[in-house]
Amino acid sequence: MKKIVIAIDGFSSCGKSTMAKDLAKKIGYKYIDSGAMYRAVTLFSIKSNIIKDKVIDEARLEQMLPYVKIDFINNQETGLPETYLNGKNVEKEIRTMKVSNLVSLISALPFVRHALVKLQQQMGEEKGIVMDGRDIGTTVFPNAELKIFVTASAEVRAQRRVDELLSKGDEVSFDEVLENVKSRDYIDQNRSESPLRKADDALLLDNSNLTIPQQDEWLMNIFKEKANC
Ligand code: DC
Repeated sequence: MKKIVIAIDGFSSCGKSTMAKDLAKKIGYKYIDSGAMYRAVTLFSIKSNIIKDKVIDEARLEQMLPYVKIDFINNQETGLPETYLNGKNVEKEIRTMKVSNLVSLISALPFVRHALVKLQQQMGEEKGIVMDGRDIGTTVFPNAELKIFVTASAEVRAQRRVDELLSKGDEVSFDEVLENVKSRDYIDQNRSESPLRKADDALLLDNSNLTIPQQDEWLMNIFKEKANC
């Protein structure tokens, strides 16, 4: 069976990561959450006081970026990769609202994008990879054999995020999360560097009314077609 590159892009909290992770596990591919990389740089910026009151010291971030080491290491129990920032597991910390509220600002910076896109391309050199994000099918892997663009209404996405955060014990309100989803949509679609958009050859999936097993099945059928198996 030939190994391919699978690019899954779409709006925030639309279940991209869930479907990408499930697929990678089933087909034995590497899974990379590119959003986690932008989140890790954001966490680094918060901890190093590079970002304060939504103001970024861009010169300092650019200078320090080469020393920001991001790795994905498999959790032995779940079999899923977790994000490490300079050797420390930050998987939980990068998902907090504090990071979510600032990540779009960091991910709009061209020098951050260039550095992370380069890293992402290296990770996909040997194919056999599922990567999710915003610009995977357009910028990171424009030649990916399979591209999916996922969307769902802002309200559905906000509710999914609230459920996820509450299940982790993070107290959040629906309105706060909806506001964050909408503002991230706006910034992601309107930034000058690699804005979020569907690649012309990507398949569109609106999963507002789909269950996770339904979307997993849809994706598996398409994968089988593309990988000729
Ligand atoms: O998928 P996520 O919500 O964890 O992504 C976090 C942020 O990172 C999101 O607001 C947009 C940005 N991002 C990006 O600009 N490009 C990517 N390839 C992935 C994420």
